Amino acid sequence: MTTNPVSICVIGSGYVGLVAAVCFAEMGHTVTCVDNDEAKVKMLRQGGVPIYEDHLAGLLAKHLHHGVEFTTDLAGAVERSEAVFIAVGTPQGDTGAADLSFVEAVVSEIARSIGSRGGYKVIVEKSTVPVYTNEWIRRVMQRHGVDAASFEVVSNPEFLREGTAVIDFLHPDRIVVGANTERSAEVLRRIYAPLTEGSYYSQPEALPGCCNAQRPAPLLVTSAQSSEIIKHASNAFLALKISFINAVANLAEAVDADIEDIAAGMGLDTRIGPRFLKAGLGYGGSCFPKDVAAFHWVAQQQGVDFQLLQEVRKINETQKNIFYNKVLSALWTLRGKRLAALGLAFKADTDDIRDSPAIDVIRKLLDAGTIITAYDPAAMDRAKEVLPPSEKMRYASNVYEAAKDADAVLILTEWKEFANLDLPRLNQAVHFPIVIDGRNLYKPQQMAEHGFTYVSVGRPANYQAQQGKPRNLLV
Ligand code: UDX
Repeated sequence: MTTNPVSICVIGSGYVGLVAAVCFAEMGHTVTCVDNDEAKVKMLRQGGVPIYEDHLAGLLAKHLHHGVEFTTDLAGAVERSEAVFIAVGTPQGDTGAADLSFVEAVVSEIARSIGSRGGYKVIVEKSTVPVYTNEWIRRVMQRHGVDAASFEVVSNPEFLREGTAVIDFLHPDRIVVGANTERSAEVLRRIYAPLTEGSYYSQPEALPGCCNAQRPAPLLVTSAQSSEIIKHASNAFLALKISFINAVANLAEAVDADIEDIAAGMGLDTRIGPRFLKAGLGYGGSCFPKDVAAFHWVAQQQGVDFQLLQEVRKINETQKNIFYNKVLSALWTLRGKRLAALGLAFKADTDDIRDSPAIDVIRKLLDAGTIITAYDPAAMDRAKEVLPPSEKMRYASNVYEAAKDADAVLILTEWKEFANLDLPRLNQAVHFPIVIDGRNLYKPQQMAEHGFTYVSVGRPANYQAQQGKPRNLLV
């Protein structure tokens, strides 16, 4: 751990803020995490974790009151900190642009609490923000009378994924620091030294991951603008990879090719790589949809025609309609049909349903008059807030209960549990043995052997003889 602890304030205790706060404490720093939600702060102070994230509860228990504190008092926390990380939400606004009002409100509050006193502080943008936000933060601080020599603004985007957030934070592919002066870059170098010099990984209690003392995390220093763009461009590129493979999947399906083989063949090219080439229902979550839109807006503002990003979004939306049409094709009419929906979360290993393709598909199927029984290992409570239980929208306590008497089973989220089903038991439970898989969790041959009609993404559909193949009935 660090021999050079930094006093850090993290503002915002959402996914990024909370994980950063707890992980900075794990790296040996002294952290105060601020949120204006009193109930959440109370919960965190008692060791409660509001999100479903591996290792987080354990690390919080380890460092609570011994490295990390939670408070609603922003001014006090800022005053005793050398680095102030802003990790509040930047939701999508009506135009596609990120809504930066939370960031601005926090910056104004930081400025008021610093005023004209105090030593040098670094204000760090951790939230995903458009290029030039660093400049706006600097201006807002100065408008509130903060002396320009007493602070600097640095961009330090976060690349963690939900579900693996703690490990991603402590074992990053890279740490990006966008700093316009060496003085401010040096503060960030000190903060990340346990990861970049490897001392964290030599600790017996260090959480294991892909970095180690011999191969520590790389840190890249760029200008603030470049760093802001690195974050948007990285997310947009990953989204592009997913939309690309989904478009290829649609072509593969039309010519009876197999997208899994195609992705494997493409991914073996080290210039392409195998990751983010999984065809399915498209991307969702709190980042990709919002960041692709925001990045497109940024380009537009600068007079740059980045039409490719619109295509990425369009393919992603179409993917859900294509899946819906597969359900329609398999069942002919939908009103009154009973469907088992396996998965509600936007991806596996999270309870997050924000922009979840599964929820979008279910909504469309409910509008068409189907009766849905859903099951998800983690996201049911959250889903009930947007799809309240009713006669038409039911929730089951396991897969087989959801599948009972179903006219078709839909796989909507790539949970490991759904890839390892007891297929004879599933076949026993359903009304018709039809599985429509939006995540390609099974091999068509395996499903055929268990008597299922199996429709997946980018692969030939496999119809059981008695069910007939409805090819060309719906176009
Ligand atoms: C993403 C980025 O990966 C992360 O770096 C950034 O900080 C936040 O946004 P996250 O939203 O947690 O992380 O999820 P991720 O694992 O990237 O998946 C995003 C979506 O893409 C999910 O809906 C997932 O199901 C889908 N996906 C992912 C695919 O459809 N195919 C793939 O090959 C990979």
